[in-house]
Amino acid sequence: MGALTGKKIVLGVTGGIAAYKAVEIASRLRKAGAEVHVIMTREATEFVTELTFREITGQPVSVDMWAKVTNFNVEHIALATLADLVLIAPATANIIAKIAAGIADDMLTTTVLATKAPVMLAPAMNTNMYENPVTQGNMAELRRRGMQLIEPASGHLACGIEGKGRLPEPVQIVQEVMDFMTREQPLQGRRIIVTAGGTIEPLDPVRYLGNRSTGKMGYAIAAEAARQGAEVLLVSGPSNLPNPAGVRTVRIQTAREMQAAVEAEYGEADAVIMSAAVADYRPKNVAADKIKKSDDELVLHLERNPDILFGLGQQKQQQVLVGFAAETCNVEEYAKKKLTKKNLDFIVANDVSSKDAGFAVDNNRVQLYFRDGRAEKYPLMAKAELAKVILEKVAGILS
Ligand code: CTP
Repeated sequence: MGALTGKKIVLGVTGGIAAYKAVEIASRLRKAGAEVHVIMTREATEFVTELTFREITGQPVSVDMWAKVTNFNVEHIALATLADLVLIAPATANIIAKIAAGIADDMLTTTVLATKAPVMLAPAMNTNMYENPVTQGNMAELRRRGMQLIEPASGHLACGIEGKGRLPEPVQIVQEVMDFMTREQPLQGRRIIVTAGGTIEPLDPVRYLGNRSTGKMGYAIAAEAARQGAEVLLVSGPSNLPNPAGVRTVRIQTAREMQAAVEAEYGEADAVIMSAAVADYRPKNVAADKIKKSDDELVLHLERNPDILFGLGQQKQQQVLVGFAAETCNVEEYAKKKLTKKNLDFIVANDVSSKDAGFAVDNNRVQLYFRDGRAEKYPLMAKAELAKVILEKVAGILS
Protein backbone atom coordinates (compact mmCIF):
# COMPACT_ATOMS: atom_id res chain seq x y z
CA MET A 1 0.00 0.00 0.00
CA GLY A 2 1.29 3.43 -0.91
CA ALA A 3 1.18 6.41 1.41
CA LEU A 4 -1.58 7.92 -0.70
CA THR A 5 -3.75 4.83 -1.19
CA GLY A 6 -7.40 5.76 -1.50
CA LYS A 7 -6.65 9.49 -1.84
CA LYS A 8 -8.11 11.40 -4.75
CA ILE A 9 -5.85 14.17 -5.94
CA VAL A 10 -6.79 16.80 -8.50
CA LEU A 11 -3.56 17.88 -10.18
CA GLY A 12 -3.80 21.31 -11.80
CA VAL A 13 -1.20 21.95 -14.49
CA THR A 14 -0.66 25.51 -15.68
CA GLY A 15 1.28 26.95 -18.58
CA GLY A 16 4.88 27.25 -17.52
CA ILE A 17 7.93 25.59 -18.98
CA ALA A 18 7.99 23.31 -15.91
CA ALA A 19 4.66 21.78 -17.01
CA TYR A 20 6.59 18.78 -18.35
CA LYS A 21 7.66 17.96 -14.78
CA ALA A 22 3.98 17.56 -13.88
CA VAL A 23 3.99 14.35 -15.88
CA GLU A 24 6.44 12.83 -13.42
CA ILE A 25 4.49 14.28 -10.50
CA ALA A 26 1.31 12.58 -11.77
CA SER A 27 3.19 9.33 -12.23
CA ARG A 28 4.72 9.42 -8.74
CA LEU A 29 1.39 10.31 -7.11
CA ARG A 30 -0.14 7.34 -8.83
CA LYS A 31 2.66 5.05 -7.75
CA ALA A 32 2.07 6.23 -4.17
CA GLY A 33 -1.49 4.94 -4.52
CA ALA A 34 -3.44 8.10 -5.36
CA GLU A 35 -6.19 8.40 -7.94
CA VAL A 36 -5.07 11.40 -10.01
CA HIS A 37 -7.39 13.68 -11.98
CA VAL A 38 -5.58 16.22 -14.10
CA ILE A 39 -6.97 19.61 -15.02
CA MET A 40 -4.90 21.58 -17.49
CA THR A 41 -5.19 25.21 -18.39
CA ARG A 42 -5.28 26.01 -22.11
CA GLU A 43 -1.75 27.40 -21.84
CA ALA A 44 -0.50 24.16 -20.29
CA THR A 45 -1.62 22.22 -23.37
CA GLU A 46 0.94 24.24 -25.36
CA PHE A 47 3.68 22.55 -23.31
CA VAL A 48 2.36 19.01 -22.74
CA THR A 49 -0.51 17.11 -24.32
CA GLU A 50 -3.67 15.93 -22.62
CA LEU A 51 -2.96 12.49 -23.97
CA THR A 52 0.24 12.17 -21.91
CA PHE A 53 -1.63 12.79 -18.68
CA ARG A 54 -4.50 10.53 -19.68
CA GLU A 55 -2.09 7.67 -20.27
CA ILE A 56 -0.18 8.29 -17.05
CA THR A 57 -3.22 8.67 -14.80
CA GLY A 58 -5.70 6.37 -16.48
CA GLN A 59 -8.32 9.10 -16.04
CA PRO A 60 -9.93 11.61 -18.38
CA VAL A 61 -8.16 14.99 -18.45
CA SER A 62 -10.16 18.21 -18.18
CA VAL A 63 -9.28 21.40 -19.97
CA ASP A 64 -12.32 23.02 -21.44
CA MET A 65 -15.26 23.85 -19.19
CA TRP A 66 -17.68 23.63 -22.08
CA ALA A 67 -16.41 20.48 -23.74
CA LYS A 68 -18.74 17.52 -23.91
CA VAL A 69 -18.26 15.65 -20.69
CA THR A 70 -18.45 11.93 -20.37
CA ASN A 71 -17.91 11.03 -16.73
CA PHE A 72 -19.31 13.94 -14.81
CA ASN A 73 -22.45 15.92 -15.01
CA VAL A 74 -21.27 19.26 -13.75
CA GLU A 75 -17.61 18.51 -14.03
CA HIS A 76 -15.99 21.35 -12.14
CA ILE A 77 -18.21 20.73 -9.15
CA ALA A 78 -17.67 16.97 -9.44
CA LEU A 79 -13.88 17.29 -9.30
CA ALA A 80 -14.08 19.95 -6.59
CA THR A 81 -16.18 17.61 -4.47
CA LEU A 82 -14.30 14.38 -4.98
CA ALA A 83 -10.86 15.87 -4.30
CA ASP A 84 -9.05 15.07 -1.06
CA LEU A 85 -6.41 17.54 -2.22
CA VAL A 86 -5.99 19.97 -5.09
CA LEU A 87 -2.34 20.29 -6.09
CA ILE A 88 -1.33 22.92 -8.64
CA ALA A 89 2.13 22.25 -10.02
CA PRO A 90 3.54 24.22 -11.65
CA ALA A 91 1.55 27.26 -10.51
CA THR A 92 2.24 30.34 -12.63
CA ALA A 93 2.11 33.91 -11.30
CA ASN A 94 -1.06 34.27 -13.35
CA ILE A 95 -2.95 31.36 -11.73
CA ILE A 96 -1.84 32.54 -8.27
CA ALA A 97 -3.20 36.02 -9.02
CA LYS A 98 -6.47 34.62 -10.32
CA ILE A 99 -7.02 32.41 -7.29
CA ALA A 100 -6.13 35.27 -4.95
CA ALA A 101 -8.75 37.43 -6.69
CA GLY A 102 -11.40 34.70 -6.73
CA ILE A 103 -11.56 34.56 -10.53
CA ALA A 104 -13.14 31.43 -12.01
CA ASP A 105 -12.84 31.59 -15.78
CA ASP A 106 -11.65 28.10 -16.64
CA MET A 107 -11.92 24.56 -15.33
CA LEU A 108 -9.01 24.82 -12.90
CA THR A 109 -9.86 28.15 -11.27
CA THR A 110 -13.52 27.14 -11.07
CA THR A 111 -12.58 23.90 -9.33
CA VAL A 112 -10.37 25.75 -6.84
CA LEU A 113 -13.14 28.20 -6.05
CA ALA A 114 -15.67 25.40 -5.57
CA THR A 115 -13.59 22.98 -3.51
CA LYS A 116 -13.47 22.57 0.24
CA ALA A 117 -10.44 20.31 -0.01
CA PRO A 118 -7.02 21.63 0.97
CA VAL A 119 -5.19 23.37 -1.87
CA MET A 120 -1.43 23.11 -2.38
CA LEU A 121 0.49 25.15 -4.92
CA ALA A 122 4.02 24.84 -6.23
CA PRO A 123 4.84 28.27 -7.69
CA ALA A 124 7.28 28.23 -10.61
CA MET A 125 8.17 31.32 -12.59
CA ASN A 126 10.84 33.81 -13.52
CA THR A 127 12.65 35.21 -10.47
CA ASN A 128 11.53 38.80 -11.08
CA MET A 129 7.92 37.72 -11.35
CA TYR A 130 8.32 35.67 -8.18
CA GLU A 131 9.85 38.55 -6.26
CA ASN A 132 7.36 41.12 -7.54
CA PRO A 133 5.42 42.51 -4.56
CA VAL A 134 2.15 41.76 -6.36
CA THR A 135 3.00 38.05 -6.58
CA GLN A 136 4.35 38.03 -3.02
CA GLY A 137 1.13 39.71 -1.82
CA ASN A 138 -1.01 37.20 -3.71
CA MET A 139 0.90 34.28 -2.20
CA ALA A 140 0.52 35.78 1.28
CA GLU A 141 -3.22 36.03 0.66
CA LEU A 142 -3.39 32.35 -0.35
CA ARG A 143 -1.44 31.36 2.78
CA ARG A 144 -3.76 33.46 4.89
CA ARG A 145 -6.67 31.47 3.47
CA GLY A 146 -4.98 28.27 4.57
CA MET A 147 -3.54 27.15 1.26
CA GLN A 148 -0.15 25.41 1.30
CA LEU A 149 2.64 26.88 -0.80
CA ILE A 150 5.64 24.78 -1.71
CA GLU A 151 8.83 26.82 -1.68
CA PRO A 152 10.36 27.13 -5.18
CA ALA A 153 13.96 26.08 -5.68
CA SER A 154 16.79 28.38 -6.72
CA GLY A 155 18.99 27.80 -9.69
CA HIS A 156 19.31 28.31 -13.40
CA LEU A 157 15.93 29.19 -14.89
CA ALA A 158 14.76 28.50 -18.43
CA CYS A 159 14.72 32.24 -19.15
CA GLY A 160 18.48 32.32 -18.69
CA ILE A 161 18.83 33.95 -15.28
CA GLU A 162 19.84 32.54 -11.91
CA GLY A 163 17.48 32.87 -8.96
CA LYS A 164 14.47 31.63 -7.11
CA GLY A 165 11.48 30.36 -9.03
CA ARG A 166 12.31 26.85 -10.22
CA LEU A 167 9.81 24.11 -9.68
CA PRO A 168 11.30 21.71 -7.11
CA GLU A 169 11.98 18.18 -8.27
CA PRO A 170 8.82 16.02 -8.62
CA VAL A 171 10.08 13.65 -5.93
CA GLN A 172 10.24 16.57 -3.47
CA ILE A 173 6.78 17.83 -4.37
CA VAL A 174 5.28 14.37 -3.96
CA GLN A 175 7.07 14.05 -0.61
CA GLU A 176 5.46 17.32 0.55
CA VAL A 177 2.08 16.01 -0.57
CA MET A 178 2.61 12.79 1.39
CA ASP A 179 3.79 14.68 4.49
CA PHE A 180 0.74 16.90 4.31
CA MET A 181 -1.77 14.13 3.68
CA THR A 182 -0.41 11.96 6.50
CA ARG A 183 0.25 14.80 8.97
CA GLU A 184 -0.78 14.27 12.54
CA GLN A 185 -3.96 15.99 13.59
CA PRO A 186 -4.14 15.36 17.32
CA LEU A 187 -7.15 17.67 17.68
CA GLN A 188 -9.15 16.11 14.85
CA GLY A 189 -12.86 16.48 15.54
CA ARG A 190 -12.35 18.43 18.78
CA ARG A 191 -14.34 21.59 19.38
CA ILE A 192 -12.22 24.35 20.79
CA ILE A 193 -13.20 27.87 21.79
CA VAL A 194 -10.41 30.44 21.91
CA THR A 195 -10.82 34.02 23.10
CA ALA A 196 -8.38 36.73 22.07
CA GLY A 197 -7.66 40.42 22.25
CA GLY A 198 -8.99 42.87 24.76
CA THR A 199 -12.61 43.71 25.35
CA ILE A 200 -13.59 47.38 25.15
CA GLU A 201 -16.25 49.05 27.26
CA PRO A 202 -18.03 52.13 25.90
CA LEU A 203 -18.12 55.37 27.86
CA ASP A 204 -20.07 57.42 25.35
CA PRO A 205 -20.62 57.15 21.56
CA VAL A 206 -16.98 58.03 20.82
CA ARG A 207 -14.93 56.79 23.79
CA TYR A 208 -14.22 53.51 25.48
CA LEU A 209 -12.07 51.89 28.15
CA GLY A 210 -9.71 49.30 26.73
CA ASN A 211 -6.38 47.59 27.25
CA ARG A 212 -3.17 46.86 25.39
CA SER A 213 -3.92 43.33 24.23
CA THR A 214 -3.55 42.89 20.44
CA GLY A 215 -4.84 39.33 20.09
CA LYS A 216 -1.56 37.84 18.77
CA MET A 217 -1.43 35.00 21.30
CA GLY A 218 -5.06 33.94 20.87
CA TYR A 219 -4.97 34.18 17.06
CA ALA A 220 -1.83 32.00 17.03
CA ILE A 221 -3.59 29.39 19.19
CA ALA A 222 -6.74 29.44 17.05
CA ALA A 223 -4.77 29.05 13.81
CA GLU A 224 -2.67 26.20 15.20
CA ALA A 225 -5.72 24.39 16.63
CA ALA A 226 -7.36 24.52 13.20
CA ARG A 227 -4.18 23.18 11.59
CA GLN A 228 -4.29 20.30 14.06
CA GLY A 229 -7.79 19.41 12.93
CA ALA A 230 -9.95 21.11 15.56
CA GLU A 231 -13.19 22.88 14.82
CA VAL A 232 -12.33 26.29 16.22
CA LEU A 233 -14.48 29.20 17.34
CA LEU A 234 -12.40 32.33 17.92
CA VAL A 235 -14.17 35.02 19.94
CA SER A 236 -12.13 38.15 19.49
CA GLY A 237 -12.17 41.65 20.85
CA PRO A 238 -11.23 44.42 18.38
CA SER A 239 -7.95 43.42 16.69
CA ASN A 240 -6.12 44.42 13.52
CA LEU A 241 -5.25 40.82 12.78
CA PRO A 242 -7.04 39.05 9.89
CA ASN A 243 -9.33 36.11 10.67
CA PRO A 244 -7.13 33.00 10.86
CA ALA A 245 -7.52 30.44 8.08
CA GLY A 246 -10.05 27.71 8.75
CA VAL A 247 -11.30 29.34 11.96
CA ARG A 248 -14.82 30.58 12.60
CA THR A 249 -14.17 34.06 13.96
CA VAL A 250 -16.73 36.10 15.86
CA ARG A 251 -15.82 39.69 16.66
CA ILE A 252 -17.25 41.26 19.78
CA GLN A 253 -16.57 44.41 21.76
CA THR A 254 -17.58 44.11 25.40
CA ALA A 255 -16.98 41.51 28.10
CA ARG A 256 -20.67 40.68 28.20
CA GLU A 257 -20.74 40.12 24.44
CA MET A 258 -17.71 37.85 24.78
CA GLN A 259 -19.42 35.93 27.57
CA ALA A 260 -22.58 35.43 25.50
CA ALA A 261 -20.60 34.21 22.46
CA VAL A 262 -18.56 31.74 24.51
CA GLU A 263 -21.44 30.44 26.62
CA ALA A 264 -23.60 29.81 23.53
CA GLU A 265 -21.20 27.04 22.47
CA TYR A 266 -19.69 26.01 25.81
CA GLY A 267 -21.92 22.98 26.30
CA GLU A 268 -20.56 21.25 23.19
CA ALA A 269 -16.96 22.39 23.60
CA ASP A 270 -14.04 20.08 24.39
CA ALA A 271 -11.82 22.94 25.51
CA VAL A 272 -11.88 26.67 26.14
CA ILE A 273 -8.67 28.67 26.00
CA MET A 274 -9.23 32.14 27.45
CA SER A 275 -6.34 34.25 26.24
CA ALA A 276 -8.44 37.41 26.05
CA ALA A 277 -7.73 40.34 28.34
CA VAL A 278 -11.26 40.82 29.61
CA ALA A 279 -12.09 44.19 31.19
CA ASP A 280 -13.01 43.59 34.83
CA TYR A 281 -15.05 46.80 35.03
CA ARG A 282 -17.28 48.81 32.72
CA PRO A 283 -18.64 52.34 32.99
CA LYS A 284 -21.82 52.21 35.03
CA ASN A 285 -23.63 54.63 32.78
CA VAL A 286 -22.93 54.88 29.09
CA ALA A 287 -23.66 58.45 28.02
CA ALA A 288 -26.08 58.69 25.11
CA ASP A 289 -24.22 61.73 23.76
CA LYS A 290 -20.56 62.62 23.71
CA ILE A 291 -19.44 63.71 27.17
CA LYS A 292 -18.49 67.40 27.12
CA LYS A 293 -15.65 68.76 29.21
CA SER A 294 -16.81 70.88 32.11
CA ASP A 295 -15.10 70.67 35.49
CA ASP A 296 -11.40 70.10 36.13
CA GLU A 297 -12.14 66.62 37.27
CA LEU A 298 -14.22 63.87 35.74
CA VAL A 299 -15.25 61.00 37.96
CA LEU A 300 -16.14 57.74 36.27
CA HIS A 301 -18.26 55.19 38.09
CA LEU A 302 -17.45 51.65 37.07
CA GLU A 303 -19.22 48.41 37.81
CA ARG A 304 -17.97 44.84 37.77
CA ASN A 305 -18.08 42.81 34.60
CA PRO A 306 -18.78 39.11 34.83
CA ASP A 307 -15.71 36.92 35.27
CA ILE A 308 -16.28 34.76 32.20
CA LEU A 309 -13.77 32.07 33.05
CA PHE A 310 -14.94 31.80 36.65
CA GLY A 311 -18.47 31.18 35.34
CA LEU A 312 -17.21 28.49 32.94
CA GLY A 313 -15.32 26.85 35.81
CA GLN A 314 -18.53 26.65 37.84
CA GLN A 315 -20.40 24.89 35.02
CA LYS A 316 -17.42 22.77 33.93
CA GLN A 317 -18.14 19.21 32.80
CA GLN A 318 -16.05 17.58 30.08
CA GLN A 319 -14.39 20.83 29.04
CA VAL A 320 -10.69 21.41 29.48
CA LEU A 321 -10.29 24.97 30.75
CA VAL A 322 -7.16 27.01 30.15
CA GLY A 323 -6.64 30.47 31.58
CA PHE A 324 -3.99 33.12 31.20
CA ALA A 325 -2.56 35.29 33.92
CA ALA A 326 -0.74 38.41 32.88
CA GLU A 327 0.96 39.74 35.98
CA THR A 328 3.50 42.42 36.80
CA CYS A 329 4.65 40.91 40.13
CA ASN A 330 4.22 37.75 42.28
CA VAL A 331 3.48 35.84 39.09
CA GLU A 332 3.45 32.34 40.59
CA GLU A 333 1.31 33.18 43.60
CA TYR A 334 -1.34 35.08 41.65
CA ALA A 335 -1.42 32.56 38.82
CA LYS A 336 -1.93 29.62 41.18
CA LYS A 337 -4.73 31.45 42.97
CA LYS A 338 -6.54 32.00 39.67
CA LEU A 339 -5.99 28.36 38.68
CA THR A 340 -7.82 27.17 41.79
CA LYS A 341 -10.47 29.86 41.99
CA LYS A 342 -11.51 29.48 38.34
CA ASN A 343 -11.39 25.64 38.40
CA LEU A 344 -8.88 25.44 35.53
CA ASP A 345 -6.90 22.52 34.15
CA PHE A 346 -3.90 24.76 33.72
CA ILE A 347 -2.94 28.39 33.56
CA VAL A 348 -0.43 30.15 31.34
CA ALA A 349 1.31 32.81 33.40
CA ASN A 350 3.55 35.55 32.16
CA ASP A 351 5.22 38.62 33.52
CA VAL A 352 4.02 41.49 31.34
CA SER A 353 6.44 43.96 32.89
CA SER A 354 9.31 42.63 30.72
CA LYS A 355 9.72 44.44 27.39
CA ASP A 356 10.57 41.49 25.14
CA ALA A 357 7.54 39.36 25.96
CA GLY A 358 3.83 39.70 26.48
CA PHE A 359 1.63 42.41 24.99
CA ALA A 360 1.86 43.38 21.32
CA VAL A 361 5.09 41.48 20.56
CA ASP A 362 5.63 38.19 18.77
CA ASN A 363 7.25 36.42 21.70
CA ASN A 364 6.22 35.27 25.10
CA ARG A 365 7.96 33.77 28.14
CA VAL A 366 5.63 31.75 30.30
CA GLN A 367 5.20 29.28 33.10
CA LEU A 368 2.43 26.71 33.08
CA TYR A 369 0.80 25.70 36.37
CA PHE A 370 -1.35 22.57 36.37
CA ARG A 371 -4.13 21.58 38.72
CA ASP A 372 -2.09 18.63 40.05
CA GLY A 373 0.59 21.06 41.25
CA ARG A 374 3.06 20.55 38.39
CA ALA A 375 4.80 23.63 37.03
CA GLU A 376 6.67 24.01 33.74
CA LYS A 377 8.86 26.95 32.91
CA TYR A 378 9.55 27.90 29.27
CA PRO A 379 12.18 30.18 27.75
CA LEU A 380 11.33 33.14 25.52
CA MET A 381 9.60 31.70 22.45
CA ALA A 382 7.53 32.76 19.46
CA LYS A 383 3.80 32.89 20.17
CA ALA A 384 3.27 30.44 17.29
CA GLU A 385 5.54 27.95 19.07
CA LEU A 386 3.90 28.58 22.42
CA ALA A 387 0.54 27.90 20.79
CA LYS A 388 1.82 24.41 19.92
CA VAL A 389 2.97 23.81 23.51
CA ILE A 390 -0.40 24.88 24.94
CA LEU A 391 -2.34 22.73 22.46
CA GLU A 392 -0.13 19.73 23.12
CA LYS A 393 -1.08 19.99 26.80
CA VAL A 394 -4.76 20.33 25.91
CA ALA A 395 -4.59 17.31 23.57
CA GLY A 396 -2.85 15.34 26.33
CA ILE A 397 -5.62 16.08 28.83
CA LEU A 398 -8.32 15.29 26.26
CA SER A 399 -6.86 11.92 25.27
N1 CTP B 1 -11.01 36.50 32.70
C1 CTP B 1 -12.35 36.33 32.43
N2 CTP B 1 -13.23 37.30 32.76
C2 CTP B 1 -12.85 38.43 33.39
C3 CTP B 1 -11.47 38.59 33.70
C4 CTP B 1 -10.59 37.61 33.33
O1 CTP B 1 -12.71 35.31 31.85
N3 CTP B 1 -13.72 39.35 33.71
C5 CTP B 1 -10.06 35.42 32.35
C6 CTP B 1 -8.93 35.88 31.44
O2 CTP B 1 -9.26 35.68 30.09
C7 CTP B 1 -7.77 35.01 31.87
C8 CTP B 1 -8.05 34.73 33.34
O3 CTP B 1 -9.44 34.99 33.53
O4 CTP B 1 -7.74 33.77 31.20
C9 CTP B 1 -7.24 35.60 34.26
O5 CTP B 1 -7.41 36.94 33.91
P1 CTP B 1 -6.73 38.11 34.73
O6 CTP B 1 -7.17 39.41 34.17
O7 CTP B 1 -5.27 37.82 34.84
O8 CTP B 1 -7.34 37.84 36.16
P2 CTP B 1 -8.53 38.41 36.97
O9 CTP B 1 -9.36 37.27 37.38
O10 CTP B 1 -9.21 39.52 36.23
O11 CTP B 1 -7.77 38.97 38.23
P3 CTP B 1 -7.02 40.36 38.49
O12 CTP B 1 -7.45 41.29 37.40
O13 CTP B 1 -7.48 40.74 39.81
O14 CTP B 1 -5.55 40.03 38.43
